[in-house]
Amino acid sequence: MSEQKFEHLEIEMPKSMGGTIDGNYAVISLNRPDKLNALAPQTCKEMAEALEPMEMEKGIRAVVLRGTKNITKKAAFSAGADLSAPLDKRLKMNIPMDFAHGIDIRHRYYFRIEEFTKPLIAAVDGYAFGGGCELALVCDIIIASKRSFFGFPEIKRGIFPSNGGCVRMLRNIGLQRAMKMLYFGERISAEQGLDWGLVSFVAEEGEEFENLVHEKASWLGEQATTSLMMIKKSAKFGGQVPIPIGYHFETLGAGVMTGSKDVQEGITAFLQKREPKFKGF
Ligand code: COA
Repeated sequence: MSEQKFEHLEIEMPKSMGGTIDGNYAVISLNRPDKLNALAPQTCKEMAEALEPMEMEKGIRAVVLRGTKNITKKAAFSAGADLSAPLDKRLKMNIPMDFAHGIDIRHRYYFRIEEFTKPLIAAVDGYAFGGGCELALVCDIIIASKRSFFGFPEIKRGIFPSNGGCVRMLRNIGLQRAMKMLYFGERISAEQGLDWGLVSFVAEEGEEFENLVHEKASWLGEQATTSLMMIKKSAKFGGQVPIPIGYHFETLGAGVMTGSKDVQEGITAFLQKREPKFKGF
């Protein structure tokens, strides 16, 4: 994979690819600690660009998206859209289509992140607000430390969550809970998120959280990549259409999967009474 340089991100690669991660996964960290990892348009663009080559990279079988460990102010996954970022000079606030276009571009980046084919874990340690909360929502699972909070403060700024927050959050926690968060800007704790079905795993911040993220990412990095891809496509996308249509995702996925060496390995290992060794294709 050719080396990419990012201004707003840090990338850590697996040891097998000359990096430092002891597992078949990569880590993308938002690296704007002085702004609590706020998301400028460039940050969103860089995330989508960083993921792109990882699609085809066989050494990377899962990705963790997180805030940098280099905390200079407060712990944060991301405090949302960068409210201090200058507006694109071509964008005129009084021309509705201009602003709509700006959001449309963000939607494309978020969707690009959401449709990344391998498992994508949001490792949330600290604030996940506004666009940061929306970013966690496009990942497949959320692992949060106990000091984390999720919320949509947009209502307090006279705007509204328009990077998928209104349409995605209700799928995770239900309409009434989502409306409470959207209307009142009420933040919820990691434990509340776990209780409501937003968060998959919670741990104490620090070592316990880091170990949990590593454990889950390593585990996914050892599984049959094709199966994971089919699960992702069938559950995340097949789950959004009428059930008889959703079945077709599973049908087609099952067809594709039969060409995978990992599937043969999984069944053979069971019959031979040994642990499977998946290679990721
Ligand atoms: N964009 C740009 N900078 C941000 C930011 C954002 N979304 N969120 C935080 N920052 C900056 C602050 O301006 C501050 O910078 P400074 O130290 O140079 O003044 C720094 O990050 C730390 O934030 P601070 O407000 O001092 O921390 P806090 O713990 O008291 O509060 C928040 C944290 C997240 C509650 C608060 O910063 C906040 O409400 N941020 C905006 C969140 C938001 O509205 N997001 C949705 C945007 S659409």
